[in-house]
Amino acid sequence: ITVSIGLLLVAYLFGSFPTGFLAAKLLKGIDIRDEGSGSIGATNVLRTLGKGPAILVLLVDALKGALAIALANWIYPFTNNESLPLPWLVTLAGLFAVIGHSLPVWLNFKGGKSVATSLGILLAMSWQVGLATLGVFAVVVAITRIVSISSIAGAIAVSLFMILFKQPLPYLIFAIAAGVYVIWRHRSNIQRIIAGTEPKIGQKLVTET
Ligand code: G3P
Repeated sequence: ITVSIGLLLVAYLFGSFPTGFLAAKLLKGIDIRDEGSGSIGATNVLRTLGKGPAILVLLVDALKGALAIALANWIYPFTNNESLPLPWLVTLAGLFAVIGHSLPVWLNFKGGKSVATSLGILLAMSWQVGLATLGVFAVVVAITRIVSISSIAGAIAVSLFMILFKQPLPYLIFAIAAGVYVIWRHRSNIQRIIAGTEPKIGQKLVTET
């Protein structure tokens, strides 16, 4: 049980590594939380710093999630038999990484929306589900050119893919919990979508919330 608790703490710490915040600080000397949507995620980095930094942030943020899952798999043999079955341990590690990214202790708990981190987790949990979800995201981006709508579409689709690809119950629970959480983190985006002010890729964000 100590090993498992240690794992969850480390999963949170992985998730809380503030890639977008650091990129903005180091490259432009600014606090990204004062820019655009206020998120530290790759979308706001794209808006604020451009394509190169955004791709880097996207990759590192996804990697953080994948690492949390890899660590859960690696550490599992060191947890004793009374401890959680592997899929539950993986699910909890994923949820802690998601929370770490959006509520980082280093930034007064003001982080991102956990989309990239969730994608990394999904790819490490089940690459089929990860790729299918990424596919939904990509199709919606191609149609709408709005990242938040695409993230929300992916957050809805992921649970269906868990069922479709016959994944274990704890993974479905991850998909539902993370999906609902990611959508909830998009509340200000949803308001802007309804108001018709949510920016497309390449457009400036006019109304700040
Ligand atoms: O991945 C986050 C994206 O869906 C929205 O980001 O900065 O437009 O709120 P942002």
